[in-house]
Amino acid sequence: MSKPHWRPARASDLPAISAIAARIHPDLPERPEVFAEKMRLYHDGSRVLAAEDEIVGYGLAHPWTQHRIPPLDGFLEQLPGGADCLYVHDVAVLPGFRGGVAGDYVAAIEQLARASGIATLALVSVYATRPLWERLGFRAVTANAELRAKLASYGDNATYMLRDLAAT
Ligand SMILES: CC(C)(COP(=O)(O)OP(=O)(O)OC[C@H]1O[C@@H](n2cnc3c(N)ncnc32)[C@H](O)[C@@H]1OP(=O)(O)O)[C@@H](O)C(=O)NCCC(=O)NCCS
Repeated sequence: MSKPHWRPARASDLPAISAIAARIHPDLPERPEVFAEKMRLYHDGSRVLAAEDEIVGYGLAHPWTQHRIPPLDGFLEQLPGGADCLYVHDVAVLPGFRGGVAGDYVAAIEQLARASGIATLALVSVYATRPLWERLGFRAVTANAELRAKLASYGDNATYMLRDLAAT
C-alpha cells in the first residue's frame, strides 16, 4: 500500500470529512456546512489525507486573529481583515494511519503562513494533545477570562496555544 499523502480538499470530500469528524470527535459535533464554509473561505488550508481509495484524515486551517477562538460548530461568516495568525481548526486522522502525519500537515500550514506573511500559528488543543502540539513548537497561552469562557465549549482540557514562526 502506498503511503497516505495530504492533498488539497475538494467539495466532494465533505462527506468523508464529516464522517471522520463524527467518529473522532463525538463530543464536539460540528455540522457539515460549517466545515464546508471553512473549505470555501480558505481552500488553501483545507487538506485531506488520502490513502489508496479512501480519505483517512483531514486538516482545516484559516487566517484569524490571535487570542480569538472561533465558536465550535459556528460559521466564520468572513475572514478577518489584517489576520495575524493561521488558526488550525482541527487535524484528525483515523487511528490506523497516525504517526508523523499531523507533523506533515502543520509543516504545510507553516509554509502557507510564511508565504502569506503571517508569522504565527494558533490552535485549541483538546483532549490530552497538548504534549503533541508542544512537540510541534506550540506553546500554551495563559487564557484571560474571555478566552477561558470560549474554551469551555471545547471540553475540560482545552488549551489555547500559539506557535511563533519567527522563533523557529
Ligand atoms: C492529533 C493527531 C492528528 C496526531 O496525528 P499523528 O500523525 O499521530 O501526529 P504526529 O506523529 O505527526 O505527531 C507530531 C509529533 O508529536 C509527537 N506525539 C504524538 N503523540 C504524542 C503524545 N501523546 N505526547 C507527546 N508527543 C506526541 C510525535 O512523536 C511527533 O513528534 P516527532 O515528529 O518529533 O516524532 C491524531 O492523534 C488524531 O487524529 N487524534 C484525534 C483527533 C485530535 O485530537 N485532534 C487534535 C485536535 S486539537
